[in-house]
Amino acid sequence: MTDVYESDTLLDQYLRFHYSAYEDYFPHDFDMRKAFNFPVRCAIEGPDYDLLKANELALDVGCSVGRSSFELSKYFSSVVGIDFSHSFINAALELKNKGECVVHSADESANKSEGSVRLDASMIKERVHFESGDAQDLREDLGCFDLVIACNLICRLPQPLKFLDRLPQLVKPGGQLFMTTPFTWLEEYTPKENWLSNETGDSFQGLSNALDSSFKLLKCWDMPFLIRDHSRKFQFSIAQASRWQRLKC
Ligand SMILES: C[S@@+](CC[C@H](N)C(=O)[O-])C[C@H]1O[C@@H](n2cnc3c(N)ncnc32)[C@H](O)[C@@H]1O
Repeated sequence: MTDVYESDTLLDQYLRFHYSAYEDYFPHDFDMRKAFNFPVRCAIEGPDYDLLKANELALDVGCSVGRSSFELSKYFSSVVGIDFSHSFINAALELKNKGECVVHSADESANKSEGSVRLDASMIKERVHFESGDAQDLREDLGCFDLVIACNLICRLPQPLKFLDRLPQLVKPGGQLFMTTPFTWLEEYTPKENWLSNETGDSFQGLSNALDSSFKLLKCWDMPFLIRDHSRKFQFSIAQASRWQRLKC
């Protein structure tokens, strides 16, 4: 049996957990409620709607179960949501077609109760199209969009640069790109040699290096989010959000 509590990572984590000063341990003053509704906030706060020339086509890469895509339907006449997971895309389609989807909530680890989540009537679901696909190998005829969003996707890709290199083709000149990422690099998703932090030790610098020749950085900020494991355990993360404008050729 391997004892995870013998690893250096957990040793460091617990030394910090037991002995760090608050300001050093958590140098943020977020109200936990602000970490709620992340996919909605991505759609509303991510793009600068005043700067967008057209609100026709939006693309949500790594859309998961679709909430940001549905939210974007209030602003764009057509939204494409793409994800690698068939079960996520099936759930998004069920929400589109039936307006609701069964969900199981863990009360305490193993105990689960069944309920449902619903799509509220303000979403214009006819405008949203979901498909499964690989962000690193998107179909050639996908087209060109006024807005592309990719939220918490890049540190889940084996080859983030393959996706980033495709972005200039996907965003119309003057159009916008909105990305968030907590930069949680893990070898189970991304081989170490492909981490964007490699060259400078700073992942955002690596991201900027990949985008700089085709995009201008408009804004960069922190976006907290909260994922529920069970009623007594939540994952709190702070994604780095960045809004970019595609340079005119
Ligand atoms: C951390 S989740 C973020 C989902 C969603 N954007 C959000 O903010 O809640 C990462 C998502 O990326 C998807 N994903 C992982 N690898 C992918 C790939 N190669 N192509 C497309 N989607 C991928 C996963 O299925 C998952 O839905």
